[in-house]
Amino acid sequence: MEKEALVELAFQAMENAYAPYSNYHVGAALCTKDGNVFLGANVENASYGACNCAERNAVFAAYSNGYRKEDITGLAIVSDGDKLAAPCGICRQVLSELINQDTPIYLSNHQEEMTTNINDLLPMQFGIEDVLR
Ligand code: THU
Repeated sequence: MEKEALVELAFQAMENAYAPYSNYHVGAALCTKDGNVFLGANVENASYGACNCAERNAVFAAYSNGYRKEDITGLAIVSDGDKLAAPCGICRQVLSELINQDTPIYLSNHQEEMTTNINDLLPMQFGIEDVLR
């Protein structure tokens, strides 16, 4: 799927953010080789540690529906903030295991945008091969 279309879907997903505490809205859209799209929005909770980020919700939705990293061709993450929503540390760790290193990650906030990948976002990764030895 084209970057622009995926980013637009992420902005639509952002409308579903449940963020009464931070009032910071994030949306994510993940596309697969077979043309499917999984959306995510951040969902907060009064027990703050139970909040979940938009990009994790999107990638977990894809995995929950049987997709795996080799099926994922792009991920858009957007916010309504003044700066680009760079994925938080927990999301970088999750993405480092669940998407390919070079899969494009598109960041946008309507004012600026950039394309990156998890290899650049998370150097010196701790992963499955460190645990399963
Ligand atoms: N958040 C995301 O959904 N993704 C990010 O990349 C950064 C942070 C959410 C979590 C929380 O609901 C709110 O933004 C403020 O941290």
